[in-house]
Amino acid sequence: MTPQISKGIVLAGGSGTRLHPLTQVTNKHLLPIFDKPMIYYPLSTLMLSGVREILIISTPEDLPRFERLLGDGNRWGMRLSYAAQPSPDGLPQAFLIGEEFIENDRVALILGDNIFYGHGLPLLLQKVVGKAKAGGTIFAHTVRDPERFGVVAFDTDGKALSIEEKPKIPKSHWAVTGLYFYGPEVCRLVRSLQPSARGELEISDLNQLYLEAGNLQVERLGRGITWLDAGTPDALATAGQFVRTIQTLQNTAVACPEEVAFRMGFIDREQLAEAIRPIASSPYGKYLATLLEAGWQA
Ligand code: DAU
Repeated sequence: MTPQISKGIVLAGGSGTRLHPLTQVTNKHLLPIFDKPMIYYPLSTLMLSGVREILIISTPEDLPRFERLLGDGNRWGMRLSYAAQPSPDGLPQAFLIGEEFIENDRVALILGDNIFYGHGLPLLLQKVVGKAKAGGTIFAHTVRDPERFGVVAFDTDGKALSIEEKPKIPKSHWAVTGLYFYGPEVCRLVRSLQPSARGELEISDLNQLYLEAGNLQVERLGRGITWLDAGTPDALATAGQFVRTIQTLQNTAVACPEEVAFRMGFIDREQLAEAIRPIASSPYGKYLATLLEAGWQA
């Protein structure tokens, strides 16, 4: 039987050129999205899907900063490890760098600048993770500017027909989001890819391979789910405003790994209290403390 997904990769390398000069001395995924570093968001998404063993990939220069921020994951009931991508040669490279980590498991990949938020999302992800099946699952969301993304076209029955990377003339408004689930065959398939005209291995070519083999499921995310890619100055500001608005209006936290770990049962009340101690004086820490006061049980 093909194993279920138990592992995840966060890809947080690249050069962040679209955000210069912001990213001249700071890795993009360490920039703030309102009250927390960008990488907390994709990390929390993987945690909400039930994945507890995660490989963080970044540049050799930036990797020590991620290790300082996130550690071994123990305080969140997670197992975090780290690997370097010496140059940004494309998203599918994550599977070659992570081959030993993946072993023979299914694996999730999330891009470090992708933010997902909305009702029903954890359940949807947990369903995908629970599937003991080879093949790929990706998610699509409508956008105004599809030419900036991988674009999936559907037939009238909703069956995916094609996936193209940043097409000049997009066939639809459905962008492929930066969250991908694959079987262990992914490493072998990545080896068969050729670099594109821009010199990178393309995730859209990988997805096209799965599609042609009849092995790709494309889940369309509805209006109840918000998806943001914080890779440009406008998108970064929008993401910060979005998180601030939700958190202020609803008195909740978006993508707070301590809370997710507690609610998912990765840590207990004592471990949550321990995790809060060093950050207790910030609004972030004070929010977490309310979870303990309320006597909330995981
Ligand atoms: O956000 C979704 C989109 O992400 C998809 O619709 C596209 O199909 C996919 O190619 C990707 O497009 P981007 O233009 O956003 O990719 P970008 O080069 O900006 O890289 C995405 C993230 O991955 C970014 O946070 C940097 C990181 N990265 C990128 C590359 C190419 C790496 O860590 N290593 C890399 O080699």
